[in-house]
Amino acid sequence: MMSKDIDLEKYFKPDLKQARMRRKDVNYLTFELEDEFLGIGHGKNYRIQTYGCQGNEADSEIMAGLFEKMGYQEAQSETDADIILLNTCAVRESAENRIWGELGRLKSLKRNNPNLLLGLCGCMAQEENVVNRILKKYPYVDIVFGTHNLHQLPYYIKSAMFDQERVIEVYSYEGSIVENLPKARAFKHKAWINIMFGCDEFCTYCIVPYTRGKERSRSKDEILAEVNDLVKQGYQEITLLGQNVNAYGKDFKDLDYTFGDLLVDLDKTGIERIRFTTSHPRDIDQKTITAFENCKHVMPHLHLPLQSGSNNVLKKMNRGYTKEIYLDAIKKLRQARPDISLTTDIIVAFPTESEADFKETISLLEEVGFEGAYTFIFSPRYGTPAYNYPNDISKNEQKGRLRQLNKVVNQGYLNGSLRFLNKTVKVLVDGFSKKDDTILSGYSEHNKLVNFQGDASLIGTIVDVKIKEAMTWFLIGELA
Ligand code: SAH
Ligand code: SF4
Ligand code: F3S
Repeated sequence: MMSKDIDLEKYFKPDLKQARMRRKDVNYLTFELEDEFLGIGHGKNYRIQTYGCQGNEADSEIMAGLFEKMGYQEAQSETDADIILLNTCAVRESAENRIWGELGRLKSLKRNNPNLLLGLCGCMAQEENVVNRILKKYPYVDIVFGTHNLHQLPYYIKSAMFDQERVIEVYSYEGSIVENLPKARAFKHKAWINIMFGCDEFCTYCIVPYTRGKERSRSKDEILAEVNDLVKQGYQEITLLGQNVNAYGKDFKDLDYTFGDLLVDLDKTGIERIRFTTSHPRDIDQKTITAFENCKHVMPHLHLPLQSGSNNVLKKMNRGYTKEIYLDAIKKLRQARPDISLTTDIIVAFPTESEADFKETISLLEEVGFEGAYTFIFSPRYGTPAYNYPNDISKNEQKGRLRQLNKVVNQGYLNGSLRFLNKTVKVLVDGFSKKDDTILSGYSEHNKLVNFQGDASLIGTIVDVKIKEAMTWFLIGELA
């Protein structure tokens, strides 16, 4: 074990106060891997365990790309790995507890293989209390780096390998935009495309603006070039990523070009399907709504996090809209695209949420007719304003509200499935179903999971499937 008087100051550690600050300038960088790193991974295997949102999945594809450039190959199993990275999520306490448990489990792996390198990155690495805990109690974690410097992974691996020193390097500035990063994409037919990074919304419960830094948009030319290249390679679907994609372009200084403009331009690239996540109800504008009407490749599904149906609670969450504004956006979306499928996120038991506030959420859910929702119990995050809000809702009551909410949500899922019964839908085939390797599975245009019988040659193509059975979580069909 490391001694208690370890010099915590010698490392680059995160600082939540710094992370809250917003400066004006964005740094644009072009990545290049120096020759000295090229053979480092030769004959070695890497493993990345990804937790959290699609932003982390996209980051893991970049890190996998970096590993492969260095000569590493993907490990077939954890015992076969020479380096394991945990790409972590900090959004709720439960997400963090999983990681602490996993680190405990990996300790024994390290005991059996002392040369194994263990690294922690992603959003948890941006939290000062996490890094201090790792320094003091997890001496076998070799590398810690944050969301702003993942492109420096090759340097960190090299120093951990050759200098035999722990590498702890986390920055709390707003981050740069780094282009030309290699990517080892998980699929050959659908791809994540980062269009912006960070978040400036500062919802009072949320840690993301601290872990991901300032809102900053990638240039439209870089995005269009990336998508044009994917089209050439035969990709069928892109999902545009950002914590608040509707803020895209608002940081451009001399260019009036926002999210709706980007959708129009992407629609012309020849990519078959365009999806995006996540939208913020405050920033969703007419141009975006019109894109649902006019852009034939923009898919008829929108994930629009509501969080609460009570104006009191929305205000305390600093969401910047009322339920009336939310309903108005939904109305316009449905005028633009009557068949659109809507899903959402809800937090229950936010501090001071009364029974009446909660009932308002339930009734708004029923009124909108969401076809799916991610539901959460409020989790206090150290460093955010809501961490200090007095909360007297008992654990039992919190769980009771979640149960009640999920009943309504599940009915919504089922209704969303039932509307496709006996209809023919277009499915982009991902591969064989996790549960049955004779059944193919993929997603419809409305983002419904569809299972049907077919052979491997269909993977990566879009096929017509006639729906024969509608279940709560998925549809069952036959090739049409
Ligand atoms: N940028 C996206 C998603 C952020 S995190 C958005 O604004 O919608 C995904 C979801 O996690 C959020 O929508 C919210 O519902 C939930 N969440 C975030 N912080 C939380 C917290 N402290 N406790 C419980 N749920 C939280
Ligand atoms: Fe968090 Fe709000 Fe930003 Fe979403 S919009 S990432 S909930 S602060
Ligand atoms: Fe989690 Fe970070 Fe995403 S906190 S939800 S991995 S932005």
